[in-house]
Amino acid sequence: MKKPYEKPFITRQQGGIINKFGNAAPTAVADEIDGIKVEALVKEYGSPLFVYSEKTIHKKYRELVDAFSLRYPRVQHAWSYKTNYLKAVCRTFHNLGSWAEVVSMMEYQMAKRLGVKPQHIIFNGPFKPYEALRTAIIEGAMVNIDGMEELYEIEKIATELDRPVNIGIRLNMSLGTYMAWDRFGINIESGQAYQAVKRAVAGGKIHIDGLHAHIGTFILDPEIYRLQAQKLIEFARLIKNDFGIHIRYIDIGGGFASRNRLKGTYLSTADIAPPFERYAEAICDEMFASFSQNDLPLLILETGRALIDEAGTIISTVSATKRLSNGMRALVIDAGVNVLFTAFWYDHDIIPVNDRGGDMEDHVIYGPLCMQIDVIRPQMKLPHLERGDRVMIRPAGAYNNTQWLQFISLRPNVAMIGVGGAVSVIRKAESLDYLQELESIPEWM
Ligand SMILES: Cc1ncc(COP(=O)(O)O)c(C=O)c1O
Repeated sequence: MKKPYEKPFITRQQGGIINKFGNAAPTAVADEIDGIKVEALVKEYGSPLFVYSEKTIHKKYRELVDAFSLRYPRVQHAWSYKTNYLKAVCRTFHNLGSWAEVVSMMEYQMAKRLGVKPQHIIFNGPFKPYEALRTAIIEGAMVNIDGMEELYEIEKIATELDRPVNIGIRLNMSLGTYMAWDRFGINIESGQAYQAVKRAVAGGKIHIDGLHAHIGTFILDPEIYRLQAQKLIEFARLIKNDFGIHIRYIDIGGGFASRNRLKGTYLSTADIAPPFERYAEAICDEMFASFSQNDLPLLILETGRALIDEAGTIISTVSATKRLSNGMRALVIDAGVNVLFTAFWYDHDIIPVNDRGGDMEDHVIYGPLCMQIDVIRPQMKLPHLERGDRVMIRPAGAYNNTQWLQFISLRPNVAMIGVGGAVSVIRKAESLDYLQELESIPEWM
C-alpha cells in the first residue's frame, strides 16, 4: 500500500537516545478489554464509549476488603456515590457487600432506589437542609454532622420525635498535609470538636455514635492515615473518659490513591501508589492496639477512586491529525474534557489499539470541543496514528461519569463487561429529545 504523504519537518532530538525521534521506549498497544475486542465494542455501541469491567471492580473490592479484614475483624466498606453513581456500578458494589456513602438527598434517594436500607446509608457532606436531616433521621440513616448548625437542627428533630437521636461527628485535624482539609467537619486541635461534644451531651437529646474524618484524596503516604487513626482514637478516649460516650464506629473516609497519574509527578503513580495493604497496616495497627478485643468499633472505609478508577476505560477515535507550528504532532480525538473531566488533574494513559509500526514522537492530544482548554494530554509519546484509529484512555472510572458535562455534543453510551463476558449498555447515549425534554419556549415567542 502506498504510504500517506506527510510534509517534511525538523524536530529537536533529545541527547543520548538512539531512536531518531528521541525515545525508544515502546508504548503499550492493546486491542481488547476483558477479552472483548475494542473494534467490536465500537461497532456495536459507537465512539466515544465508556466501558466498565465488572471483573476489575470485583478484584479491587476484594483486594481492599481482604487487606483490611485480615488485620481487623470488624470492617465495612461504604460505596462513595459521588465517585460514580451509575446504577450498575453502585449495584455491583452493593452486591459485593458495600453500604452507601452519600452527600446529598439526590444520592440518598439513588441509594434507596437501589434497595440499600437507610441503616446502611451514611449521610455525609457540608450541605444537609433541615428536611434532608429530618428524612434521614426518621428513616434511620447514619448521619455524620459537618458543623454545629446541623447539631442544633438535629436537637429540634429529636424534640419533635420525642426520642434521642444517634449521630456521627465529622472531625478535621492537623496532619501536616498540604492542603489542610479544614473546611469540612469540626476541628480537634482548636478544642471546637470537644466543645461540640460537650454541647451535645448537655442538650441531652443526641447520642454520639461514631467519629468520621475524610482527610483528603489521592493520599500517597499511608503514615498520614496512621496519624489520622491515632487522633480519632485519642478523641474517642477523651470523650469516653469525660462523658462516658461509647463510640460504635470509626469512619476513616476515602482518599486512597488509584493507579492514575497526577499531573506534575515524576514517577508514574503505578510505581508510587501504595497497595491497600500499606494503608490497612497503618490504620488497623492503631485500631487493633487501642481498643479492647471484645469492644472493637466498626471500621468504616469510604474508598472511592481507588476501587473504580481502573475499572473504567474510554474508547475514543482519532478524528484529525495536524502538525503545530512548534513541530509537535497533534491529534484531535472524539472524547474531550466534557466526558473526561479528570483530564484537568491526571495524565491518563492513552493506549493505541492498533500498531502501525513506525517511531514514537511527542504528541498533544486534543478533544473535539471548540475550546482552547480541551486538552486530554499536553504532551506524550505515541506512535503514528491516523484519522479513524482508536485509542483507549484509562483509568477513567472515578469522578468522570458524575462530573461529565453536557456541552456541544451528547453524552455517549456507557457499557459494562460482566464477569461472565456479557456486554450490556448501562447508560444509553443521550438523544436530542432527552436533552430538550425539560425545556420549553415561552408562549409569547
Ligand atoms: C466524605 C467522603 N468520603 C469518601 C470520599 C471518596 O474519596 P476517594 O474517592 O478519594 O476515595 C469522598 C470524596 O471526596 C468524600 O468527600
